[in-house]
Formats: sequence, C-alpha cells, structure tokens
Amino acid sequence: MKNPRAAHDFLSRTCSITGVGHHVPEKILTNADLEKMVETTDEWITTRTGIKERRIAAANEFTSDLATHAARNAMKMARVTPEQIDLIIVATLTPDMPFPSTACLVQRKLGAGRAAAFDIEAACSGFIFALEIGMQFIASRTYETVLVIGAEKLSSIVNWKDRNTCVLFGDGAGAAILQNRPQSHGLLTAVMGSDGNKADLLSMPGGGSACPATPESVAQGLHFLRMDGKETFKNAVNAMVSAANEAMRRCEVDISKIKCVIPHQANQRIISAVGERLGTTEEQLFVNLHKYGNTSAASVAIALDEAVASGRIHRGDLILLVVFGAGLTWGAAVIEW
Ligand code: UT7
Repeated sequence: MKNPRAAHDFLSRTCSITGVGHHVPEKILTNADLEKMVETTDEWITTRTGIKERRIAAANEFTSDLATHAARNAMKMARVTPEQIDLIIVATLTPDMPFPSTACLVQRKLGAGRAAAFDIEAACSGFIFALEIGMQFIASRTYETVLVIGAEKLSSIVNWKDRNTCVLFGDGAGAAILQNRPQSHGLLTAVMGSDGNKADLLSMPGGGSACPATPESVAQGLHFLRMDGKETFKNAVNAMVSAANEAMRRCEVDISKIKCVIPHQANQRIISAVGERLGTTEEQLFVNLHKYGNTSAASVAIALDEAVASGRIHRGDLILLVVFGAGLTWGAAVIEW
C-alpha cells in the first residue's frame, strides 16, 4: 500500500480521523406509513430500493441540530473540547437557511468560539469533498483540529405527494474529527469529480437567485427536490466504480486489501452493482440503507460511524468510501483506520 500524500511529506503531514459520530431523529417513517400517504407498496420500495424505513426530523429540529448532535458524539470519541476546534465544515444541501451558514449555527450551538466555520454544497458527495478540504488544512499545518459534518433535513425539501421521490430520502447527520497523529496514516487519498452538464438530472429549481420564492414558484412545486431516477442510477454506478478504482490505484491497493467498502446509501441495486463491478464480497460492503434511506451528505458519514461502532473496522484496516450525487458530483476516499 502506498500513501499518495507521502511525496509531499517534507511540507505536509498526515491527517487522521480521530473521532466519528452520528445522530438521527427519533421519528421513524416506515414503508407501511408511506402506503397511507402515496400510491406505493412496501414490496415496491423494498425490491426497487432496499429501503424499509427512514428517520424524519421534528418540525423544530433543523439540520444544525442534527449536525451538532453528531459533532458532539465525534468530539467525545476524539476527546476534543469545543475550544480546541479550529475549523468547522458542514456539507449539506438542506441548510437551516441560505445564510448564515449552517456551520456558523453549529459553531454557536457547540460553543466552539475559536473556530472558523463554513458550509460546502456537493449534494450527496459532500462528506468526501468536506473531508478532503479539511484534510488539506491539517496537511498544510494551518489547523490542528477540524470538525467535518455531513447533515441533512431532506424531509424539508421532499414533495410528500410524489411517490417517485418521497420514499427515498431521510434525515440525519454524521461527523468526523480530523487531526494529525504522527504514528498513523488516516485519510490516504480522496478523488473528487463533477459534471455540471448533467445538473438537471437531480435538482431543486426554486429558492435561489434564478428562481426566488414567489407564490407562483411555490404553487408550481419548484421548491421540492426532483430527480430523473433512471438516468441518475446509470450515472451513479459508472461514476462510483471509476472513482473507487482511481482512489485504489493511487494507493496501489486492490479491492482484496480493503476491509470495508462504504458506498453512498441511495439504492441497494446501485450498491450491489458497484460492489459487483469492483469485485467486492458481500462481507466487505457496508449497508444501512434499509434503516435510513438516502440521507445525502450524511449518508457515508453515518455509515462510517456505524461500521466503526459495530466492530467492522479495526485500527490499521483500509476503508473505501465512495459517493455520488447531484451536480453531478462523485468521489471516493481511501482511509487507513
Ligand atoms: O443520492 C443521489 C443519487 N440518487 C440515486 O442514485 C437514485 C437513483 N435512482 C434510483 O434509485 C431508481 O431509479 C429509483 C428507485 C428512483 C426508481 O427505480 P426504477 O427502477 O428506476 O423505477 P422507475 O423510475 O423506472 O419507475 C418504474 C415504475 C413507474 O411506473 P410505470 O411508468 O412503469 O407504470 C413508476 O411510476 O415504478 C413506478 N414507481 C412507483 N411505484 C410504486 C415509481 N415510484 C414508485 C413508488 N411506488 N414509490
């Protein structure tokens, strides 16, 4: 195994994930519940997606609340106090509001008064993009402790009358603390990619400068998420496979050396197709989609924490994260745990 960052060691340093954590809302919305809301069946949702239930945040529970809970759990594992945090990056496409950033709201809730804070938006790929940004600040010796969070309240932008999309998404947050630990490697490489030519496949047209909120835009449903599922599916499999292969190539490892593959949890059929094309065994693939549905930027962050907590990952194991989302965006990261 090669550490692709090592070539720059005289300038930079390694970046370890010293804590992970997640938080999901209490309320569970099952497929049976959805059968009462739209024309669907548990059988359709299960066979077409693999999802059985998802978590839905309360009316007074926002993305920043989910993010703050997840952050506290990660900080506990890393034994980090709010005062130690130098930088907070929140990846989300459902910020509490367009501005100020959700990261600033998290900073206030945590009492992390020293930290700089900003959001990034790379849809479902956001957590890997944010990890890579955070890693750069550790590697360059700019900061000692970076808090990276993927958090979403997708229930706030889902059209609950559209069966094509409302069965797919859920709310939640996952977080990681990044620090330099000289004796361990941590985040070895992250691949990121985008294709704005396919921006229309998955979007929410309303609410930005192109289409500010008006009674007409609301009536037309422009403030809801919309997706061309079939095209998105095809693009997802191809992009995830090539990002994963590129990340492994950079580290000079093949799939047999990876202990746990944590793919974006959007659809069991996508996960299986990606696993098949990468040549994974069933034991290597981590899946929690049945419990949470697609939580976008929170997805692999929640899954990483659950994989660690369940004993699937031990010190020194290699982990492959692989993501895909609106933009289009995609990415993969190899981590030595
Ligand atoms: O996180 C970002 C990445 N997101 C993704 O990667 C999601 C990618 N796409 C998908 O996961 C799948 O395309 C879906 C799960 C969204 C849809 O599965 P599909 O096999 O592509 O189904 P489809 O959209 O082609 O729909 C097949 C049929 C349609 O009926 P007709 O036109 O064949 O009569 C739909 O109207 O299934 C119908 N349908 C439903 N039926 C019952 C769509 N949604 C539902 C539903 N319940 N909830």
